[in-house]
Amino acid sequence: MTTRILFVCLGNICRSPSAEAVTRRMAEKRGVNIDIDIDSAGTGAWHVGEPPYGAMQQAALARGYDMPSLRARQVNKADFTDFDLIVAMDADNLANLRHEQPPGATAELVLFTDHVPQTGADHVPDPYYTRDFDGALDLIEQCAVAFLDQL
Ligand code: 4NP
Repeated sequence: MTTRILFVCLGNICRSPSAEAVTRRMAEKRGVNIDIDIDSAGTGAWHVGEPPYGAMQQAALARGYDMPSLRARQVNKADFTDFDLIVAMDADNLANLRHEQPPGATAELVLFTDHVPQTGADHVPDPYYTRDFDGALDLIEQCAVAFLDQL
């Protein structure tokens, strides 16, 4: 059965589209054993319709993750039943998702860093503010490996 996964950050132009692109590529490399649908969205609406942030795209492309066709969108009520798992990048995203969760929601809400205790990270820092796009990708890659391992 297909597992439907939605990655969520604040703007949907840095962390969650990167998580989407990285996890999709890693799942493709693992082949037929993993059947997943992946999307991403933001809790905020400032960047709806925009492609991922330029510096984020460049850092991702340098590692072979091509994501210029992605477009930002905001989380909506249907997401809470359309997806099996909603994966937040930080505690603020998770709190906003819990707040938005409608009655009858079926999606499980989790943090992307839940399965990487070895990193000591409890969130994916926002490179839009830290400017550490490679650091964010390093962590996102580690989270994606651990995430796919436990699916
Ligand atoms: P993201 O980063 O949540 O990783 O996409 C952000 C990008 C833009 C803004 C906030 C976070 N912003 O407020 O414009």
